[in-house]
Amino acid sequence: MIREKILVIGASGQIGVELTLALRKIYGNANVVASDLREENDLLKGTGPYVSIDVMNKEMLHVQVIRQNITQIYLLAAILSATGEKNPNLAWSLNMQSLLNVLDIAKDEKLHKVYWPSSIAVFGPTSPKKDCPQQTIIEPITVYGISKYAGEFWCNYYHQRWGLDVRSIRYPGLISYKSAPGGGTTDYAVEIFHEALEEKKYECFLQEDTYLPMMYMPDAIKATIELMEAPEAKIKIRTSYNISGMSFSPKEIAAEIKKHIPEFSISYKPDYRQQIANSWPQSIDDSVARNDWDWKEDFNLEKMTKDMFENL
Ligand code: NAD
Ligand code: SER
Repeated sequence: MIREKILVIGASGQIGVELTLALRKIYGNANVVASDLREENDLLKGTGPYVSIDVMNKEMLHVQVIRQNITQIYLLAAILSATGEKNPNLAWSLNMQSLLNVLDIAKDEKLHKVYWPSSIAVFGPTSPKKDCPQQTIIEPITVYGISKYAGEFWCNYYHQRWGLDVRSIRYPGLISYKSAPGGGTTDYAVEIFHEALEEKKYECFLQEDTYLPMMYMPDAIKATIELMEAPEAKIKIRTSYNISGMSFSPKEIAAEIKKHIPEFSISYKPDYRQQIANSWPQSIDDSVARNDWDWKEDFNLEKMTKDMFENL
């Protein structure tokens, strides 16, 4: 068996914390190096190696990859949709340059695999709203979506041209209890649980009928690991795979929360994020991922809500 040494970049973020812990369970604590620009997340402390890395500094990243004998990189550093609209230049610069730095180093050092997530944000107002397919019209209106779509083609390019084994998933909005979300349009679906417990009420920044594709974090981690462990011959998409977990509106998640906290109430005050949400599909067709590497989610809205309240 080939010994792998993994570098997770952006390990202190919403996905990074849980993915690092999951990878450490599989590959051994010492073989998964967590890294981030900000300090090590408390949940990671004492569970394995941590290095401070600015992914924009290619030289520093390259030195770490060589020094630590890295064979795989998971790149999670990014600026998400809502924060990206506040500083488009910064979002474009980080989201693109970080990926190009990683792809280049991976090519030069002949790394075994690279993982880089894309997003449902690649889709735009002209994409189908329901069961949005893998291949369709893609005209994103956010800088985040543009950077993700461009990134997908860079991944495909490095695979076609240099045979780099780079794999990717278009995550839906992710809901988790371990680490906080970092500036996305779907963050309301995490905030609502915390406010329900603490305040018994929540003011939502999206309208009540805004349906969006969503996924519970354990499913996102499972999908990531299953994709990365699938035999190379099964990976037919080298841009990024659609995956789907569930789809709901603020009104629907509020009703589910009320089953656990009957006094909970929700009000609506849509802001600039409404326009971003309106541009995305309401649900995703992930039949290609299901066929290629047997993807199947475990959680629906009811099961996720129960699990969130058991763990928060
Ligand atoms: P996050 O904002 O929670 O975490 C990103 C991490 O990257 C942060 O800890 C941040 O400090 C770090 N970072 C930022 N700049 C850096 C730099 N220059 N060098 C090193 N680290 C840096 O984001 P997340 O939600 O965990 O998202 C991870 C990836 O998944 C991103 O590519 C994101 O676009 C994608 N994604 C997330 C969601 C979601 O709902 N969370 C949905 C779709 C796609
Ligand atoms: N959850 C992410 C966002 O809202 C989707 O990529 O930005």
